[in-house]
Amino acid sequence: MKTSSKILCVVGARPNFMKIAPIMAEFAKSPLHAKLLHTGQHYNESMNHQFFVDLGIPAPDINLEVGSGSHAVQTAEIMKRFEPVLDQEKPAAVLVVGDVNSTIACALVASKKGVPVIHVEAGLRSFDRGMPEEINRVLTDQISDILFTTERIARDNLLREGIKDERIHFVGNVMIDTLHHNLARAVPAQETLASQKSYAALTLHRPSNVDDRESLTSLLQTIRQISTQIPIAFPLHPRTRSRMEEYGLNEMIESPDIMVLPPLGYLQMLGLMKDAKFFLTDSGGIQEETTALGVPCITLRENTERQITVDEGTNTIVGQDRKRILSAVKEVIETGGKRGRIPEFWDGHASQRIVSILEDWLHRS
Ligand code: UD1
Repeated sequence: MKTSSKILCVVGARPNFMKIAPIMAEFAKSPLHAKLLHTGQHYNESMNHQFFVDLGIPAPDINLEVGSGSHAVQTAEIMKRFEPVLDQEKPAAVLVVGDVNSTIACALVASKKGVPVIHVEAGLRSFDRGMPEEINRVLTDQISDILFTTERIARDNLLREGIKDERIHFVGNVMIDTLHHNLARAVPAQETLASQKSYAALTLHRPSNVDDRESLTSLLQTIRQISTQIPIAFPLHPRTRSRMEEYGLNEMIESPDIMVLPPLGYLQMLGLMKDAKFFLTDSGGIQEETTALGVPCITLRENTERQITVDEGTNTIVGQDRKRILSAVKEVIETGGKRGRIPEFWDGHASQRIVSILEDWLHRS
């Protein structure tokens, strides 16, 4: 048995919060001692604090307060501030989730110090190295000691990259644990939208969609066109909001059929997803959540790292091309869209499997 049973869990950005919530809850029931460290990558009330409230995540024990910056600055700043914390805390392992800059930054510091790294949501691949998250995924997996996967394809991806099979554990999807735990508490969309009408929902924040003026303009034109067929609810990410302002595109979404909203908390977003006719998005998490809810998802990206949502779920990949987007929307409006089925182990018990494997591991080592 290791001398310490402390696991230092890391979060940084919005999509991490729904992944860590059920893991922290499960640790609280186990003999293991989990501490929560927030890097401060996301910091706004709406991008950060609201999720801790909605999901009942304990307040972080440590906050590195790094804030925004270029990829290099943000990653380096997290690493610099994380190192002394690691020296002081001396955990048995560091647990990271997902694929954001906080994930790779803390994994890298831990692995260089010989502290075992646990990666939750390992092995997902878009095979698109132009995506910063893909680089974070590949590198984090390479230096992880225990890799927890959400779908079977992830193991094949990892084996191909030389990761040893005994390190890989297929446990299912912790984000879907959170969805199961909170579905009954979801805020009805009618309340968020103050409207009874049926609607589609939209989120956009990938640099490849919103940082380029031409791509963003073309996407917003397409959205405007879709809104003539069905009203669109559009929670606006801070990155997208600032690009629209910079490029003078705000007018393009000024229409009674486009309901622009601030970034939503988890329970509001869940309600919006659950009741939508379909979802247009470039988010990773929403591709999975819509599959779990049986809501058609049209993904505004050229690829996905979450292949199971296409193979078994409700997801259709259409990229930025207007014709492809409009034809997918037409199909969903006319036929109701892909029905899909729930992927294996997306059953609300992934975090139980994770903690039970970690208890065994700590006991043996
Ligand atoms: C990050 C993640 C991405 C994830 C997304 C979810 C990386 C590489 N990217 O992208 O994988 O899908 O979060 O939101 O880690 N900002 C605020 N308030 C905040 C946070 C950011 O206003 O609380 C602004 C910043 O000024 C920044 C912009 O939003 O300019 C983008 O934030 P950043 O953390 O750089 O990347 P995201 O696009 O959020």
